[in-house]
Amino acid sequence: MAKLTIDDQEFEFPDGTSLFDACREARGEALPHFCYHPDLPVAGVCRLCQVEVEGMPKLTIACNTGVRDGMVVRTRSEKVTQAVQQILEMHLINHPVDCPICDQAGECGLQDQYMDFGLYESKVEMAAKVNKRKVKVIGPQVILDQERCVLCSRCVRFCQEVTGTGELGIFNRGDRAELDVAPGVELDNNYSLNTVDICPVGALTSRDFRFAKRVWMLKSARGVCPGCATGCNVRIDHEGGRVFRLKPLRNPQVNGSWMCDRGRMTYKAVHDERRLLQPVRDGKDLTWAEASGALAGMLQGRSPALVVIGPHASLEEMYLARDLADPAAVVSGPHDLDRGSGDDILLDGDRSPNRKGLASLGITELGAADLAARVGAAGGPVLVLGGDPGRDKTVAGALAQCANLIAIATHDGPTVQAAALALPGAAWAEKAGTFVNRQGRWQGFAQAVARPGAVRDVWRILAEIQALAHDGSGPQSLRAVRQDLVTSVLSEGELDMDRMPEQGYVPGGGEQ
Ligand code: SF4
Ligand code: SF4
Ligand code: FES
Repeated sequence: MAKLTIDDQEFEFPDGTSLFDACREARGEALPHFCYHPDLPVAGVCRLCQVEVEGMPKLTIACNTGVRDGMVVRTRSEKVTQAVQQILEMHLINHPVDCPICDQAGECGLQDQYMDFGLYESKVEMAAKVNKRKVKVIGPQVILDQERCVLCSRCVRFCQEVTGTGELGIFNRGDRAELDVAPGVELDNNYSLNTVDICPVGALTSRDFRFAKRVWMLKSARGVCPGCATGCNVRIDHEGGRVFRLKPLRNPQVNGSWMCDRGRMTYKAVHDERRLLQPVRDGKDLTWAEASGALAGMLQGRSPALVVIGPHASLEEMYLARDLADPAAVVSGPHDLDRGSGDDILLDGDRSPNRKGLASLGITELGAADLAARVGAAGGPVLVLGGDPGRDKTVAGALAQCANLIAIATHDGPTVQAAALALPGAAWAEKAGTFVNRQGRWQGFAQAVARPGAVRDVWRILAEIQALAHDGSGPQSLRAVRQDLVTSVLSEGELDMDRMPEQGYVPGGGEQ
């Protein structure tokens, strides 16, 4: 351990801690910085994180300095403030300061640091700025504005160290130095939008989000990407009932600071035109009162003869649906649906977010032929939720023969088309729930946007089915479902699901 003094207060940090991290903890906020990033190698190029260390003749950059016993550090002295101001002044000589038309305005490192450390009288004579390319499409997802770049090299290091694709570089020298793609190359990898996240200014912008919304109008909710079994932690940025973008939330145990471009676009399905917005029976839209009547008529006070739960349902929904029927009548499948190829970074070949949830509740996944046979032999109402098994042709054939098929679904599709009664359920961004990722980590997500049309929370629909089938009442709240679930699956008092740890929870210990 190293004992040191930062801004007149004493602290103790483990040996090997960087002075940057120590100062952040001591000050309650990070030092000014452009190039430092917790999940990239240190570059030490922006010089913004300079601090005074007693006994050293010059200011030193904190990101490339380790803590030492006995260090006395000042982060807010006159000398430090002047140094930061000089560096900002240098950046602003050629910066276009086109904040009113910049997507980054409102979450820009240069704006923030100017407001914190700038607001000074400039000593630089205004001369003609060096002009560079303002709009350069450098890949399918990303646009570069070379004038705004502060040459922090974060994006370059990302493409070297994380994806290993090396598309980006800094070319030329002095005030002609510029960020660009290597000749003849595009920034075209499945993680390219992370460069937009880590760009501290508006030099790299997302083609999808560009000019879509001023960032200060957005509200945020904590989510889990539904795109694959990795379960990257995300921030769902939304406004007026629409999701505008997903940004990765840092979770060192799951996704570090990153997410893939494919997962980032999963929000589009929440608002797509195939959404099921009303209950439907035989092609006719129903009210919920009519749908409840139809449901009661189909169930006639019995449990469904077969419940098919897909890996897109939340853990809470799986738990409720599992208990609707005899354990032997509850299955999942077909198990080769929603599979693709993964990579060594984050993307998993399993393109569903909660297959491990099925396993943790003891729900068996069947192959297409076995599932089709079970549907064919059900002899009563079949309930399907959490996926669209009818996308498999063998299963679709069996579903088409089923006279009493009830589908709880987010989107129209083969299963909904085959259903006698289709009930519109909330998509992942419209509800709270839990997914269990490929590590077995329980990760909670919050409702971001309101449910459109007559869409209902799926646990409510399942509670109604439970009440109809068992001649009583189902659970009254998601909280009650969660309490039951925890009691049934975990040991007493092991977890409060309403206060899920930020890094998620692995039952029974293991790596937390
Ligand atoms: S484009 Fe952004 S991330 Fe890349 S070097 Fe320039 S400022 Fe840094
Ligand atoms: S790796 Fe998987 S969970 Fe992560 S962002 Fe991509 S699709 Fe989503
Ligand atoms: S953050 Fe330390 S030099 Fe850039």
